[in-house]
Amino acid sequence: MDLSVKIGNLTLPSPIVAASCSLTIIPGSCAAFEKAGAGAIVMKSIFQEEILAESDGYEYFSPWQEQDYLDKYCDIISQIKKVCTIPVIASVSCINADGWPAYARQFQDAGADALELNVMSLENSLDYNYGDMERNHVEILKAVKAAVDIPVIIKVGNCLTNVVRLSASLYEAGAAAVVIFNKMCPVDINVEEVCYKMGQVMTGTTEIYNVMRWAALCSAGVPGLPVMASGGVCDGESLLKVLLSGAKVGQVCSPLYTQGANVIREMHEYLVSWMESHGYSSVSEFTGMLDASNREGATRFERIQFVKNISKAKSLKI
Ligand SMILES: Cc1cc2nc3c(=O)[nH]c(=O)nc-3n(C[C@H](O)[C@H](O)[C@H](O)COP(=O)(O)O)c2cc1C
Repeated sequence: MDLSVKIGNLTLPSPIVAASCSLTIIPGSCAAFEKAGAGAIVMKSIFQEEILAESDGYEYFSPWQEQDYLDKYCDIISQIKKVCTIPVIASVSCINADGWPAYARQFQDAGADALELNVMSLENSLDYNYGDMERNHVEILKAVKAAVDIPVIIKVGNCLTNVVRLSASLYEAGAAAVVIFNKMCPVDINVEEVCYKMGQVMTGTTEIYNVMRWAALCSAGVPGLPVMASGGVCDGESLLKVLLSGAKVGQVCSPLYTQGANVIREMHEYLVSWMESHGYSSVSEFTGMLDASNREGATRFERIQFVKNISKAKSLKI
């Protein structure tokens, strides 16, 4: 049974990837994810804004502190590389133009097999020019690509006008894959105490619909660019759904917190058993089988309104 997938020049032994989160900077957890059947590890992002906030008020020391932070991250990369044979992908999130290439180069030198650029912003300024965010994605990618030789993957947020068009530009600029989607930190409101609180951090199962839709549209619209699905991949069945809809890989995060490494093992077993019962010997044989490149797929995934349900509503008892 061949479960391997190619992302850039890397071969992942399985399409199940441990997504960027606090668990993926713990070498022991990464080793457990590999043992359970993960095909790659995406490390927790290093956030430039966090580094700069830490050094706030200590301006004199800040360059040293920043490098200290980077050294620690590089050290973790080499520790994970010592316990994992699968690709280790470092994740970078920067707020200024200099940060991205400078950090990326250090992570490559520390042994990262690839980079995932965590580019997500919430544009809400009245001065915003339409298209600036998309152009920013491409510029960051080009700058990082010029600084490193390893594959560069880009993880996008879901506040985008046209993910297919952006993916095409990213592919043209040399992206090895696009991750659909990053997750915003959820804000909630406590109505008793009338204050803010953290919303539900772990993803619910319905997240998968939006991810499948864009995986289907992007993989059909930009056939050369591998899509890595992130959001709601919580068991073997949802993994299979994202692969059928066109993603090459399913990234898993929330279930790692709630169920541990075993969820990867269960996904792996489910996938192998489904492939056996459906007569497939490699994942490439069915990946994208239900994407949007055929008429029915395009009709289904491009439909966004509940047109039929309204006409059916006449017969509903209220
Ligand atoms: C606790 C937590 C920490 C996360 N940290 C990061 C991060 O550092 N960088 C990043 O790109 N995504 C981060 N994510 C987003 C996940 O990688 C993933 O894209 C998202 O949770 C959707 O996947 P899921 O439905 O499997 O949880 C984090 C998510 C959670 C829940």
